[in-house]
Amino acid sequence: MKTTCFNKPLGTLVTQALLVTVPEGKDKQLPREIVDLIPNAAHQSFTGKLDQVLTVFPATGSIDRIVLVGLGDGSGSRSAVELFRRAMALGIKQLTARDCPDIAIYLGGLFESSYITDAVLMALLATYHYSAHRSTKENEPVGFSSLTLVALNAKLSGAVDRALHEAAVIGSAVNQARDLVNRPSNLLTPILLASVASELADCEPTLTATAWSEAELRKRKFGALLAVSRGSSEEAQLITLEYRPKVESRKSKVGTVALVGKGITFDSGGINLKPSQHIADMHMDMAGGAVVLATLQAIAELAIPIHVIGIVPATENMPGGAALKPGDVVTSKAGLTIEVADTDAEGRLVLADGLAHATSFKPDYILDLATLTGAAVVALGEERAAVIGNDQPLLDHINAAGEATGELVWQLPLDDDYRSHVKSEVADVKNIGKRRSADTIAGAAFLEKFVPKDTPWAHIDLAGPAMRSESGPYWPKGGTGWGVQLLIELLRHLSR
Ligand code: BES
Ligand code: ZN
Ligand code: ZN
Repeated sequence: MKTTCFNKPLGTLVTQALLVTVPEGKDKQLPREIVDLIPNAAHQSFTGKLDQVLTVFPATGSIDRIVLVGLGDGSGSRSAVELFRRAMALGIKQLTARDCPDIAIYLGGLFESSYITDAVLMALLATYHYSAHRSTKENEPVGFSSLTLVALNAKLSGAVDRALHEAAVIGSAVNQARDLVNRPSNLLTPILLASVASELADCEPTLTATAWSEAELRKRKFGALLAVSRGSSEEAQLITLEYRPKVESRKSKVGTVALVGKGITFDSGGINLKPSQHIADMHMDMAGGAVVLATLQAIAELAIPIHVIGIVPATENMPGGAALKPGDVVTSKAGLTIEVADTDAEGRLVLADGLAHATSFKPDYILDLATLTGAAVVALGEERAAVIGNDQPLLDHINAAGEATGELVWQLPLDDDYRSHVKSEVADVKNIGKRRSADTIAGAAFLEKFVPKDTPWAHIDLAGPAMRSESGPYWPKGGTGWGVQLLIELLRHLSR
């Protein structure tokens, strides 16, 4: 998609469609230069109400059509940027790129460069679709070939290039994560996921990828990851993707951030087999890992000055003959023994070893992302991820990054009362809590055991938003890439 800027009188713009977002108000909030282009009667019924869309055809000039999208009166709970993103996405989806390969977006002097990023980002995110395995591509959306940004604030000219680059990088990282989540498990095994990481490293000199095979993992005593992998004929992999910026921030006190992403390429539940209706989607159980890899790709391309280690313990969770059995006790990389009371609580087992590996880098912050519990979906739906941690300032930064990017989180508590849920009578810790009683918090209480007490740590359970059951303004049905934007925003903040 080619992106250009246009700052001349609107009457001279040549485009197939011009998108205009309009706030709701008594005296129509339409900019004068737009009103001048459209026949008066055409927009009488348009009030700018939330989600209202009107297409008008100017009688003169060289703009084929103008698509007006209502922003509403701003009285709801959504932020102004989020309303803008959704209106943009809605307008973009009105235009099929097949009929309208060239579109223009009216920014009307909007001051912040983030609006430019968001406008372009919406064009990339709202047109995403997954059709990798279909031989006929008829009736499928195609991307726009050119996008023109109209009437920018002249003061922004320097920031425009940066904003456009940022949108292209973030958009392709989010779509990359979506692709990985959508890819069926036979086509995305742990080894194939490791090859995705090494391909990313091949393209970026600041990224280095390594993947340890089972022989290596046995030598290094990654007992919990190997335990989950026993029931599968696919080989487990411990993937590490490291980003070392060319220039490190001089101001920032943050040295290294470790991101650990759950990489279960298929979760059958193991011997505690899942019921049929919940099983087919479980190729998505590597969404945390996908988000970590895609984030590393983006921060490398954006050259954000912070050292980040991405770690993805990857395996299938299958009920093969050698599988882990309920009641087994395994010894993790950290040396703690784990009572495996339920083989379907496998995410925390592989994360335990992932977190132990992260700790070996002595990071200043540790974050883990995992589709860990159905209970997180019951509590928060697909709208928000649950976040739990040991450091309130870090949790506040995560919340702020979520508010800024539209990838919202909600904090749950973790205290000694909940910690008691994962006490085991036979081992150092048990991999489930009290079953159907604070499952999401019990997951975090388990993971906390594998994190150094004095390292700020947060656990993000994205089981809800990682995969959507219906499409929304700028996300598709299926894999959403949720978390990539939040992490980029957070890392950018920590790097300052
Ligand atoms: N991968 C699942 C969690 C999940 C559920 C992700 C729904 C996405 C959508 C996880 O491994 C799991 O099975 N968790 C169990 C934990 C329980 C046994 C404590 C669950 O939530 O039922
Ligand atoms: Zn499971
Ligand atoms: Zn799982």
